Amino acid sequence: MSFDKKSVVYQIYPKSYKDTTGNGIGDLQGIKEKLPYLSELGIDVIWLNPFYPSPQRDNGYDISDYTAVNPLFGTMADFEDLVTTAKSYGIELMLDMVLNHCSTEHEWFKKALAGDAYYQDFFILRDKPTDWLSKFGGNAWAPFGDTGKYYLHLFDVTQADLNWRNPHVREELFKVVNFWRDKGVKHFRFDVVNLIGKDEVLVDCPVNDGKPAYTDRPITHDYLRMLNEATFGQDSDSMTVGEMSSTTIDNCVNYSNPERHELSMVFNFHHLKVDYDNGQKWTLKAYDFDSLKNLFHTWGEAMSDNDGWNALFWNNHDQPRALNRFVDVKNFRNEGATMLAASIHLSRGTPYVYMGEEIGMLDPDFTSMDDYVDIESINAYRELRDSGKTDEEAFAIIKAKSRDNSRTPMQWDDSTYAGFSTAKPWLALGASHKDINVASEMSGKIFPFYQKLIALRKNYPIIAEGDYKAAYQESHQIYAFERQLDEQKLLVFNNFSAEKVELDLPEVYTNGQVLVSNYTTPKITQKLTLTPYQTLAILIENA
Ligand code: GLC
Repeated sequence: MSFDKKSVVYQIYPKSYKDTTGNGIGDLQGIKEKLPYLSELGIDVIWLNPFYPSPQRDNGYDISDYTAVNPLFGTMADFEDLVTTAKSYGIELMLDMVLNHCSTEHEWFKKALAGDAYYQDFFILRDKPTDWLSKFGGNAWAPFGDTGKYYLHLFDVTQADLNWRNPHVREELFKVVNFWRDKGVKHFRFDVVNLIGKDEVLVDCPVNDGKPAYTDRPITHDYLRMLNEATFGQDSDSMTVGEMSSTTIDNCVNYSNPERHELSMVFNFHHLKVDYDNGQKWTLKAYDFDSLKNLFHTWGEAMSDNDGWNALFWNNHDQPRALNRFVDVKNFRNEGATMLAASIHLSRGTPYVYMGEEIGMLDPDFTSMDDYVDIESINAYRELRDSGKTDEEAFAIIKAKSRDNSRTPMQWDDSTYAGFSTAKPWLALGASHKDINVASEMSGKIFPFYQKLIALRKNYPIIAEGDYKAAYQESHQIYAFERQLDEQKLLVFNNFSAEKVELDLPEVYTNGQVLVSNYTTPKITQKLTLTPYQTLAILIENA
């Protein structure tokens, strides 16, 4: 048996979901309180971003204790209660495992720094640093105390990369995963996991900030097989997803092909870089539809043909809201949100819904740098200013690209703090919370559409398991694909433009039935007109 392909995952950023203690920070009890809501939506698994003890330099991705609950979010008893209560709703948890690096506040790092040779070998220490740059800006190496050595940190200077070549490190990390398995957790998300395998000899790499020298190294596949065997691979229906930084299709096929016993699926980010100018995140550019469509097609087909499996997503805690990036939200918020949803929920892979996406939440529209908390955004602002941009230019880029765009508190109702908390939230609320909130949206257009898509995946095996083939590849407005399972076929059109688009339907589909439309169901004829941001899926039973 393998993981359930009918499952839909819902991602919660615990800090921003629901605060039950009145300190302006979301907590585990708050998530428990919202289980009935999630059950109504119909999701199967909740992925929780890290809630472990951490100095919070990178909002919990800097872990100082892997097997405890940060008191900010509650207690271990709260966590156990959440697991049990979720189960009573048929919902399971997926935990975030940040095993590439730990906080410099972790006892391993502290012991290493104090001179303990056993723990020094837990980290990547060198006499001479390479020229690699940190993903959060600046050098990727920092002085290791006063030893004259340097330690590697691909992220913040307080996130020290762990030395997976050391078997003791692997053993400790496998224990972490098993600790949470013992608490009844079967599903895991592995943070930047294609960076865990570093070469023995590290070399300078002037290309792309050094990424090719430490990304997708062949030994990573070996480590994943060991991780699988020692931990989650023992649960037959476990679902695992690897977050893959700057990866390739070939590697992702291998990471996720079931015969290789590595992971169930992968997140890749190529489709969320189509609004980067010259491959650079901190720039402003309208997104390029043709690249987006071609990426979906190339990945969709390669994974389908080679038995790989994609995690399908538009949003997460590291991305600005997709609605602001890919849709004319002023005029077509409902249509755009439902079309984006259908374009992945009807595709091949496992769909992920990021909190607030199901009610069409938007970027917060902050007006000052003081509103931002995220370390990456703050560093980027400084670097943009240093590179000669004016305050206004730098701010405009942060406003469009900051990770805080998706981290603002969940908008439950139109009260002062949006029903998230009774106190001022740790991160300012989105400007739209008076109009866009769960209380009003549950009877709106978007939430019920998500319910429908999630239910369809459960009822139509072709959605969960069918093959994927590109369709209408030459279109500059429509992203279309065809799914096939035995005699059944499903053709899905997604109009990414704010204009009407005419098209010719293949003969065989003219007798089909409309399975999904985000407008009133059109009559199927050989000549079809799609309205702005329309999604339309046509099913034929006997192809
Ligand atoms: C991943 C996380 C991100 C974090 C980084 C370092 O990309 O999603 O939030 O900052 O890894 O752990």
